[in-house]
Amino acid sequence: MALDRKLKQSRSHCLFVLLLVVLPATVFPNCLAAQERVQVTIDPAKTGAKIDRNLFGQFAEHLGQGIYEGIWVGPDSKIPNTRGIRNDVVAALKALRVPNVRWPGGCFADEYHWRNGIGSPRTITLNPNWGGVIEPNTFGTHEFMDFMDQIGAEAYLSVNVGSGTPREAAEWLEYLTTAQPTTLAKERAANGHPAPYKIPYLGIGNESWDCGGNMTPEYYLSQLKIYSRFVRNYNPEQQSQQQMLKIAVGPGGGEARWSEWTEAIMKAWQNHQWSWDMNGLSMHNYTVVRWPPAFKSVGFGETEYSQILKSTLDMEGLISKHSAIMDKYDPQKKIALVVDEWGAWYAQLPGSHPGFLLQQNSMRDAILAALNINMFARHGDRVRMANIAQMINVLQAMILTDKEKMVLTPTYHVFKMYVPFQDATFVPVTFNAGTYTHGDITLPRIDAIAAKDSAGKLWLEITNVDPNQPVEIEVAGTNAKSAQGQTLTAPNVDSVNTFDQPTTVSPRPASVKISDGKLSLRLEPKSVTVISVE
Ligand code: AHR
Repeated sequence: MALDRKLKQSRSHCLFVLLLVVLPATVFPNCLAAQERVQVTIDPAKTGAKIDRNLFGQFAEHLGQGIYEGIWVGPDSKIPNTRGIRNDVVAALKALRVPNVRWPGGCFADEYHWRNGIGSPRTITLNPNWGGVIEPNTFGTHEFMDFMDQIGAEAYLSVNVGSGTPREAAEWLEYLTTAQPTTLAKERAANGHPAPYKIPYLGIGNESWDCGGNMTPEYYLSQLKIYSRFVRNYNPEQQSQQQMLKIAVGPGGGEARWSEWTEAIMKAWQNHQWSWDMNGLSMHNYTVVRWPPAFKSVGFGETEYSQILKSTLDMEGLISKHSAIMDKYDPQKKIALVVDEWGAWYAQLPGSHPGFLLQQNSMRDAILAALNINMFARHGDRVRMANIAQMINVLQAMILTDKEKMVLTPTYHVFKMYVPFQDATFVPVTFNAGTYTHGDITLPRIDAIAAKDSAGKLWLEITNVDPNQPVEIEVAGTNAKSAQGQTLTAPNVDSVNTFDQPTTVSPRPASVKISDGKLSLRLEPKSVTVISVE
């Protein structure tokens, strides 16, 4: 009570001073500091599930300038490249330690015919899903695998179930993976890659309930069984170890039809025969508020900030809902829930090509990314893979390019700050999140996760959702001797990085203090902070 009264007094004192006096900048933070003090308790002795590095997966579809221009410029381009793949983008992505990339779609995957993208000359086709533009197929199987090599990521291929055949998909996998001297292996060698490729993840269809062919769960299940049986990985190194994981199409939301879909697939799996199997169930969930996407990606205010963040927290309910269904049929959690399309989907930028899904990426997206990653990590026993949509120039991208120019988005910086959490072990954190209210929207003010990396180092992430007030944090339970880290914040909720001003939203050292063994830090308004504690 006494503390409460003191805080109230301090608050009214600050307000009084602020209203009536022009204060030196150094005094102002102290007033705000007195307003908020949150204790975050970490219990490093208790550990949870692994935060699978695959939660930081990416998605790169043949859509807009995601592949062509974003990744592929061709070997003859003036833009510095290695075998046609831009060097600046590769360097930026390497720093993210991208674990896997889902390719070639999305809706595109169910119209993709892999033979169009090998050999020479390439077959020129169309991309009817995304603007009806020409698909030159110059970025095909070998270019994608080269891209994986260059950035150090693993391939997550989506095979065409909608308009392809099991034979086409089976031959693609034979072409990619066999070490035997088959005709397809010789063709692969003639196209420059004698050694078999590794394909650790295989998606069987994409949104088969919608753009992937509008299938019923029963119809999809019969396809799943056939593709699961015949689309084999022959790579000798993937037989006993690192076997290819097969990911079935799962739900796309929280409505009854999605629960029925999850039920149907999981029930069938529970009773499956030896001749088919799956290892993951995909889930897609975009932060959009309502379709068609109308929220602006730049030039918005606090109302849209709070609405979008409220909407993104629906991910929690969706994961819980579908995990509960999965638990019924798979209590041992053998099947991973793979959130292989997530992120913010806004109105495309005015003047951009229709169907290219080009949007800016702001401080709001950085907060959104952190909140989602934290939700995945908390459900790490079931959610073992996720792919943000999409990697470059499309939706909630890491990177934007314009010809030779490249800019890293706020979402990129969040992914980079979270690198230490890849394959780290979840450590429980308890805190009173408090609330942030704007209009009729109330959100948890702060969010946090902690983890221990393989060297035993403790990492803590804290997000301050409140765009107006800093939060002073006291961390208990760590016995900290030293701590350091980075914080990402920006002047406004809609601050973005542009080609001309690429560092408006970029990380800077976090304000961490240790005194008398007590660790404290100050969270700036609308900020994402990651610190290591030793
Ligand atoms: O990411 C854009 C599109 O969204 C994907 O192609 C599709 O799977 C989803 O509907």
